[in-house]
Amino acid sequence: MTAVTWVGSDHVRLDGTEKVRGEPIYGADRTAEAMTYAVPVGATVGRGRITALDTAAAERVPGVLAVFTYENLDRLHPADFAYGAGSANESSQPMQDPVVAYRGQPIALVVAETLEAAADAAALVTARYEVDPFTVELDDPAAESVDQAQEVPAFPAVEIGAGDRLLDQAPVVVDATYVTPAQHHNALELLSTVAQWRDGTLLIQEGTQAAGRVRHALANQLGMPMELVQTVSPSLGGGFGQRTNQTFNTVLAAVAARRVGRPVKLVVPRADVFHSVHFRPATRHRIRLGAQDDGTITTLVHDIHAQTSRHDLMPFWGAETSSRMYAIPNFRSTTSLVRLDTQTPGYMRAPMEMATMFAVESALDELAARLRVDPVELRRRHDTAVDPVTGKPFSSRRLLQCLERGADRFGWSRRDPTPGSMRSDDGSLVGWGMAAGSYPCLASAAASRVRLHDDGTADVTVSGHEMGQGLRTVVALAAAESLGLPPGQIRVTVGDTRAVPQPETGGSWGTATAVPAVLDAVDGIRARLHQIAATHGEAVATVDVTECRLADGRLVGPDNSGPPVTGLLTAAGLPSVEADGQYFAPGQKPTDVPATATARKSAVTSDVGSAFVGPEFPAFVTCSYIAHFVEVQVGARVRRPRVTRMLSVVDCGRVISRRTATSQALGGLVWGIGTALTEESIVDPRYGGFLNNNLADYEVPVNADVPTLDVDFVDEPDPSFGAFGLKGLGEVVHVGAAAAITNAIYHATGIRVRELPVRVENLMADAAR
Ligand code: MOS
Repeated sequence: MTAVTWVGSDHVRLDGTEKVRGEPIYGADRTAEAMTYAVPVGATVGRGRITALDTAAAERVPGVLAVFTYENLDRLHPADFAYGAGSANESSQPMQDPVVAYRGQPIALVVAETLEAAADAAALVTARYEVDPFTVELDDPAAESVDQAQEVPAFPAVEIGAGDRLLDQAPVVVDATYVTPAQHHNALELLSTVAQWRDGTLLIQEGTQAAGRVRHALANQLGMPMELVQTVSPSLGGGFGQRTNQTFNTVLAAVAARRVGRPVKLVVPRADVFHSVHFRPATRHRIRLGAQDDGTITTLVHDIHAQTSRHDLMPFWGAETSSRMYAIPNFRSTTSLVRLDTQTPGYMRAPMEMATMFAVESALDELAARLRVDPVELRRRHDTAVDPVTGKPFSSRRLLQCLERGADRFGWSRRDPTPGSMRSDDGSLVGWGMAAGSYPCLASAAASRVRLHDDGTADVTVSGHEMGQGLRTVVALAAAESLGLPPGQIRVTVGDTRAVPQPETGGSWGTATAVPAVLDAVDGIRARLHQIAATHGEAVATVDVTECRLADGRLVGPDNSGPPVTGLLTAAGLPSVEADGQYFAPGQKPTDVPATATARKSAVTSDVGSAFVGPEFPAFVTCSYIAHFVEVQVGARVRRPRVTRMLSVVDCGRVISRRTATSQALGGLVWGIGTALTEESIVDPRYGGFLNNNLADYEVPVNADVPTLDVDFVDEPDPSFGAFGLKGLGEVVHVGAAAAITNAIYHATGIRVRELPVRVENLMADAAR
């Protein structure tokens, strides 16, 4: 093998320099001949019916080309809710009838020659409404809730052992309820679409995590063959789950472009991002832990309430994670979905796991404090090699290493467990807390195409989306390793339905899914080269192709000799060779993947759905793990909490790219600080909608809120799940981070905050006494 091993290296981001120079082209950066600009108008009531619309003033604004409302917009075929069997972020389609399902729902779209004209005109569109009563708060007694197990049979309640039946016999019981708020993703790149029609074909350029699904939804909505719709999404300025389905901007831009006969650019204003696309649902978790006096946990009962919309049931499968995290022999869950009058919530980074593990890891900390058991020790005692739900082995589970390495590096053994026992030099209360987290390893089918050129460069095309996490870099490192070329000689194309199918990239499966598809294509390249070598009587002709590899631009056998690829190709008169690859997750069959029409016969995966599987596979269950250690300081008088130190150790199997993995981990921890201390989408019970619908009022952590963060990886390969022994990384980092912070706040102050985000006033109660 070559001296340099690319996999696991700290190689720079493939697109790092371009990014720093501001060169990558995002959805809204796209330009087109004769571009027009669209601005949406949102409903201003919480629920009801439009009784009158006035667009005359808007239409008179110079430069306005069209104002669309339900009265004149094309009728759309259903796209259906993505977590039903459809492709859209909600079943409610924009501007099809006078019904207003929630405040902010688009009721009009202005298209103009300039953005300014469109925005001016949009402000002049007025509507009158008949207002219906509405409910936007999770704990509103008027809110209707449904039992998820009954209504969404794909997500049954979980029961293990005796369920909750032994809880009453436990000598120690922690019974507490934890609340997490709605949150909005607020990616830097606003949702945006550039839609262009040419000869009956539609090209969509936008930042999406599911280019294929966008395409599929549009084909359905517009009644077109999928072959006539293409989506191109080379880069996203942040996905985080908000862009896993088609959102209203895509279809409105497409229809508007067809109607005005020119390309349309629709950038969704920040306030509308709060009101008309996915967000993290508010949740409430009652956790009951039953334990023996020696700290052995016998029962965990997890009752969940999660927000959904009036018109869709967004499943919340937190119990999938709480039930398999620890060796607790008896478990039972219930999940109620609470129908509120907002847009349908959806995935947002660790969509189920963040809230779930905030609750579980807080409750464990409460139990540890009650029993006077060290919280690291409590978790250590409940480690398990088998999945408690299925009894199958975990393919790898290195939570113990995360806990031990983290505790050691943090200096956890110096912690005095008594709350309020530590002070900083300036008199602030100091607290040390910890928590763990896990995230299921998921995988989706994927397709790839690799072309190796006689100049020693390669083009790699694969199912996947680059949302900033570094997928291009990871794919390049894996391709470099298997092609024996430096990463800089590899060009990676992702997010383009014209090339290969583009199912959703989410659930932290991007690397696990794209990398093996590329390796499969490289196998094909190697076979082709071997054939060529055989035909041309070169040195490796006698070597079994499975023993051949590519190194330093040569096709070599076990003796490390062989012809250079360039020489081979030149001898064969070929400028390049190409091969297709595919990947199915363990146990996944092609027939498991929804059928689709694609331009490529060799397509093995679907544009339609994600068809993802995991964490249970035929022979094993697999999850990624993390342990967080946090120091907070809380002001002695004004009890403002600050995170002053944070150290996390991750088990994500083998690290493919240390550079991008570290960056992912840091981002997840920053978000953990936001989740614990600042972020909350505040609903308005008077008028519906979200009050703090801008980045001034929706507070995300800024540099001053973030101390030096320390991340480390166990970095041992998983034997069964992913290529090179990888698991999944992006989301697990966020899981448990908020609990580690609130546990540290408890240790500093003796005050247990069970509702996020923590507010100064939560911590003032006993200071005032
Ligand atoms: Mo993720 S929240 O599945 O993009």
